[in-house]
Amino acid sequence: MEFNTKTAAPESIKVDCLVIGSFEDQGLTASARRVDRATGGAIRAAVASGDMKGKRGSLVVLRSLRGVGCARVALVGLGKSADFGDKAFADAVSAAVRGCGAGVTTLAFAAADWKVTGRSPAWAARAMVTAARATRFRSDELKTKASAGSGDNGNGGRPLRITWLAERRDRDLSHALQQGEAIANGMELAKRLGNLPANVCTPDYLASQARKLARDWGLGVQVLDRRQIAALHMGSFLSVTNGSEQPPRFIVLRYRGAGGRGFADPIALVGKGITFDSGGISLKPGAQMDEMKFDMCGAAAVFGTMRAIAELKPKINVVGVVPSCENLPSGRATKPGDIVTSMSGQTIEILNTDAEGRLILCDALTYAQRFRPAAIIDIATLTGACVVALGNVHSGLFSQDDALAAELLAAAKSAGDSAWRMPVDDDYQEQLKSNFADMANIGVPGNAGAVTAACFLARFVKGQRWAHLDIAGTAYRGGTAKGATGRPVPLLTEFVLTRAV
Ligand code: BES
Ligand code: MN
Ligand code: ZN
Repeated sequence: MEFNTKTAAPESIKVDCLVIGSFEDQGLTASARRVDRATGGAIRAAVASGDMKGKRGSLVVLRSLRGVGCARVALVGLGKSADFGDKAFADAVSAAVRGCGAGVTTLAFAAADWKVTGRSPAWAARAMVTAARATRFRSDELKTKASAGSGDNGNGGRPLRITWLAERRDRDLSHALQQGEAIANGMELAKRLGNLPANVCTPDYLASQARKLARDWGLGVQVLDRRQIAALHMGSFLSVTNGSEQPPRFIVLRYRGAGGRGFADPIALVGKGITFDSGGISLKPGAQMDEMKFDMCGAAAVFGTMRAIAELKPKINVVGVVPSCENLPSGRATKPGDIVTSMSGQTIEILNTDAEGRLILCDALTYAQRFRPAAIIDIATLTGACVVALGNVHSGLFSQDDALAAELLAAAKSAGDSAWRMPVDDDYQEQLKSNFADMANIGVPGNAGAVTAACFLARFVKGQRWAHLDIAGTAYRGGTAKGATGRPVPLLTEFVLTRAV
């Protein structure tokens, strides 16, 4: 898919399909009325016939109208103008891209006057790109026959070219389109990795993808094997790999944008890379266990963000840290009650082998502090409790640092990739008391599980600017729409870009 912006009258633009909008309450937008006049009232006629009531996500395609330069005009329903927020805008873009017709290879949006509540024109242009790309995205690399609508646009591999019609010349707009493409590229990488099954997407596969990212985008990369991980005394991380035949990998990716010598004050992004979480000896129930292939979505979000950042080249340093392994039961697997020593030196009593994310992240957090980062953010499908608390709407944001939390919430808001702040008070820490080790790896079952997980991680980042994103509910969908979402790549990319200016 390709994107550009033009300042041209909608009726004069020569494309296969021109997209115009109609609100349920206000009727045609200004640019749609303009197209209507040029066609001698053909658009109003479609409305009068009852074919277009403005219902959100509805679409009619009108062909061979006179007075316009395009073969088709797609009239898309925008819903009620007061409800025209992020989601309604994305739905409208999606309806147009999906419904414009299989023969369409060039599309133009006359959408600058759609006025998304609380958003700028540049924001809408960027969101158009990510919505259009998400509409055409398919994970069919393991299907023997490509599914309908697969590839770039489902019409024989010819790329779809989309023009954003601007009301006036604005350099911000082409910049916004470029940002949208980079974010979409990052999200698609995250989705692709998330959707791959665990027999393909192993820790070593993730390492090979990191090497490829580094090669393609000029990033620094380091992959540590079991021996090197052991030499760093990551006893907590290694305890999770014990039951698996797949060797663990500890992956470090570096983007250098700040200039100067060395690698000063990077943002550290630490992603949970469990390529399959069976629970281990504390085995999970069978229902939906396949979805635990998504337990590396934190790692995928780190890779996706590194890719977006490498493309946009902000003046800032970023390091991605990904501990990756499988969590499986076997005769060699870690058992409930086992005590391990983390890289920090603190000992952990593993009361539940299914609380493994925190066990790999704590060592990765200790390692990440070597870079003297300006801020550390870990990203993890960490707890089912976070899904209970926030569903699939907001990612859980945990931080004891109010300024960092505010920055992340602002980035979440402007990226349209929401997060909700949750507590990390010390009052919850007592749940992690152990009679035999410095701490246990779980709290009281059914009692603030997402918070106690964050509290566990907090013990490994004393005196650092740190935040934790629990993406268990937002990184992927189950059911018929099963698949990775690419979240929170938009949030993280926005955060890094904002920090760089
Ligand atoms: N990967 C899971 C968390 C998870 C659960 C993500 C459901 C997405 C959907 C994590 O490793 C886990 O198993 N957590 C346990 C922790 C418990 C044993 C304290 C959980 O949430 O049940
Ligand atoms: Mn688990
Ligand atoms: Zn897990």
